[in-house]
Amino acid sequence: MDDLRNKYLAAIADAADEAALEELRVKAVGKKGEVSLKMRELGKMSPEERQTAGPALNALKDEINSALAGKKAALSDAALDARLRTEWLDVTLAGRPRRQGTIHPISQATEEVTAIFADLGFSVAEGPQVDSDWYNFDALNIPGHHPARAEMDTFYMARVEGDNRPPHVLRTHTSPVQIRSMEAHGAPIRIIAPGRVYRADYDQTHTPMFNQVEGLAVDTDISMANLKWCLEEFVKAFFEVDGVELRFRASHFPFTEPSAEVDIRCSWEGGTLKVGEGDDWLEILGSGMVHPKVLQAGGIDPAVYQGFAFGVGIDRIAMLKYGIPDLRAFFDSDLRWLRHYGFSSLDVPTLHGGLSR
Ligand code: PHE
Repeated sequence: MDDLRNKYLAAIADAADEAALEELRVKAVGKKGEVSLKMRELGKMSPEERQTAGPALNALKDEINSALAGKKAALSDAALDARLRTEWLDVTLAGRPRRQGTIHPISQATEEVTAIFADLGFSVAEGPQVDSDWYNFDALNIPGHHPARAEMDTFYMARVEGDNRPPHVLRTHTSPVQIRSMEAHGAPIRIIAPGRVYRADYDQTHTPMFNQVEGLAVDTDISMANLKWCLEEFVKAFFEVDGVELRFRASHFPFTEPSAEVDIRCSWEGGTLKVGEGDDWLEILGSGMVHPKVLQAGGIDPAVYQGFAFGVGIDRIAMLKYGIPDLRAFFDSDLRWLRHYGFSSLDVPTLHGGLSR
């Protein structure tokens, strides 16, 4: 028995891990373990022998069991110690700021435009990006045969089988929101509608998806002079300079009469775009007095009401304001570009706090 005790206690003390301990437990006190087999032999002993051997074997079994338990606890303490040594954390270290995302220049410009027009009494309206042929064209006085349809490079949705109506389109401008807003609210009305629009076009200043903000003001005494004043106020506030020069060019849109396109003076010298100086002009918006047929399509009586409307290219004015020479970069999702041109999420544009810093 002393041999058994010495053998197992030494082996238990040397066990490297829990698996080795378990193996020793089975060998010693498991069902067919050495100590258990010895206990079975008790039956064959004389009563005197049994009286000393029985308690001794029981004591040996207890001793081995408690050595096993003790070693098991020691092993798990050691494992925990080892883990704690590698997983330490210095709670006195100063916090490290995580890299923050930035606000995209287009989102920033949209917020700025919204803040300016909100100050002029315009509220924000929205419409769907996939719209019906009627809202995008017919209601805006662009009937089926009109050449403006071809000029727009429209993306058409797939036609639903068995449906003979013209297919829906990816809206080519934000002007359909004029109709939806007039339908929903009637006159008088003053709204802007920022959002995505789509045309099949791609070069330094055109991308197939871009952003516009529509403006619409309808009342009983609206004139072209109101339009011009509003746009000048807007451009001055947006570019945060007094010296922006605008050029109103007589133009044509089916949904306005008369119509004017507005260009802004700029320079592209050395590949950088600067606003307010130079000999170049960049077209930034189309505008005009709302065509009577368009008022009618929106459910408003053109004998009582008139209005002005405009559509500004948000990406265009963001390029100008922030000196971004290529429109396509806006949509490349290049992280270095976004970090360079993006805005802090805490820099919320307001007229009192400053539009951009
Ligand atoms: N919808 C026109 C465009 O996308 C812009 C515009 C809007 C012109 C409103 C006049 C009035 O080119």
